[in-house]
Amino acid sequence: MDQYAVVGNPIAHSKSPSIHAHFATLTNQALVYSTLLGDEVEFENQVRDFFEKDGKGLNITVPFKERAYAMCDILSQRAKQAGAVNTLLMGKNGDLFGDNTDGIGMVRDIIHNHGQSLTDKRILLLGAGGAVRGVLEPVLAENPESVTIANRTVEKAQLLADQFDCLASSFEALEGPFDIIINGTSASLSGSLPPLKDELINADTWCYDMMYGKERTVFLQWAHERGADGADGLGMLVGQAAEAFYLWRQIRPETASLVDAMREQMEAAY
Ligand code: ATR
Repeated sequence: MDQYAVVGNPIAHSKSPSIHAHFATLTNQALVYSTLLGDEVEFENQVRDFFEKDGKGLNITVPFKERAYAMCDILSQRAKQAGAVNTLLMGKNGDLFGDNTDGIGMVRDIIHNHGQSLTDKRILLLGAGGAVRGVLEPVLAENPESVTIANRTVEKAQLLADQFDCLASSFEALEGPFDIIINGTSASLSGSLPPLKDELINADTWCYDMMYGKERTVFLQWAHERGADGADGLGMLVGQAAEAFYLWRQIRPETASLVDAMREQMEAAY
């Protein structure tokens, strides 16, 4: 059977094997998808070894996305823009091809599963790290009215804004309200929020957190308290997997029902 895996460190709790197993059943594909604990020193050799043994495709996760990017022979446009690779496959001639499906996975989740258009919208992106860099190109491809990147370290926001031809700001200098606010800071991991002013948001603002969890994230709680609706990044996780699956198998699985099932499972587990 065709072999696939996700490489990361840590990797034991990755949801990718069960997501891809579900996609395989849904689309009648015979494949095996496992986890591979990435080694800090041996990562590149592990990748080469996997493909030498006729592996068909790899997903790459923290902390190896930049190293995967560096070892590719061919990169998709969106991987080049993101500066990171989360999906690898090997061409017939042995070229390693790298793509990044995180951004398109998020944008498709927002549009198709949540029914929110980004076109002609005033969009605020919080954070200027790898997560935000990875979504900028697909967000801009939807032709928003404007995209503003706000970051604690304004210089990092400015660098991204220069590269992607959008706006940069400190949190303090932002002027709202925005139509869409997307949180890509890692602050939520520690349960904290950047200093967001109330004037950034109103009841018509729609919020998306790239993070997800059993409980409502601190960012979505902030939005909720101000009357705004939104969604967390569980659909982004499933969405990036669906796009990788599509690259490997040329079939794009439906994602909404799996997101719902995973949500129910998360809420049932304690
Ligand atoms: P990732 O790959 O998840 O994007 P990263 O590249 O380390 O991780 O970027 C983390 C982002 O979260 C950065 O934008 C960071 O802001 P700085 O560039 O100023 O460091 C932001 N971030 C992390 N903790 C934060 C906090 N407590 N408040 C505000 N922003 C925070």
